[in-house]
Amino acid sequence: MLTLENVHACYGESRVLQGIELAIEPGEVVCLLGRNGVGKTTTLRAIMGLTPPREGRVLFKGQLLNGLSTHQIARLGIGFVDENRRIFPGLSVEENLEVAQKRLPEQNRHWPMERIYETFPMLADIRHRDGDFLSGGQQQMLAIARALVGEPELLLLDEPNEGLAPVIVQQVGQLIRQLAQTTTIIFTDQNLKFALKYAERGYVIEKGRVVHASSKESFHSDLATIEQHLSV
Ligand SMILES: Nc1ncnc2c1ncn2[C@@H]1O[C@H](COP(=O)(O)OP(=O)(O)O)[C@@H](O)[C@H]1O
Ligand SMILES: [Mg+2]
Repeated sequence: MLTLENVHACYGESRVLQGIELAIEPGEVVCLLGRNGVGKTTTLRAIMGLTPPREGRVLFKGQLLNGLSTHQIARLGIGFVDENRRIFPGLSVEENLEVAQKRLPEQNRHWPMERIYETFPMLADIRHRDGDFLSGGQQQMLAIARALVGEPELLLLDEPNEGLAPVIVQQVGQLIRQLAQTTTIIFTDQNLKFALKYAERGYVIEKGRVVHASSKESFHSDLATIEQHLSV
């Protein structure tokens, strides 16, 4: 479904990604693991065309994404929840969802508003609240819901559990599990615990390169190797 081949990306002169290789199959839940600053966010940004690759190729369902705008990439079916979970201020929860909705005939939606509110009862209760007045957990749920109304086939979640209370982290995990039944998911994380619980396999990134790739079969037995990379 998604392939990254030798992807390099830079901020100014600093080459942050140095040949990322990923191959994600439809229906998988995959975690990109790595310490702070190794290039996890930039990898997701490279996929979305926000930090366009300087070298290498990004393919989604066989189509080359290089050179496309972020908007075009999103329209092809990739949803991105960035780590800042930016909510449009001055808009209600519902309005935040409405502006993100993909333009589709109502009957063609996988994520009509009713299904969003069924999946996120927490948001149903506060649908008229101003987006400025949400807790961290509510913001994260709204950010994920907003990606879903864009009708993605592939969902990219950047550190979805960062800075959240344990009870919310667990809710995010359950949500990932539920969404995984219909959506391919890539999420990033710095800690192994959440990844082991909710991802089927993982890649470890270090200095802009994949230094370890686990298969589904080996993910849990690779623990020591992965931990070593994360703690160096
Ligand atoms: N906007 C930016 N301008 C310059 N350097 C950046 C920018 N964003 C990130 N970096 C640098 O790129 C590297 C990778 O960052 P990032 O992809 O955010 O890592 P991670 O998500 O794994 O923490 C880090 O060294 C970081 O300091
Ligand atoms: Mg990051």
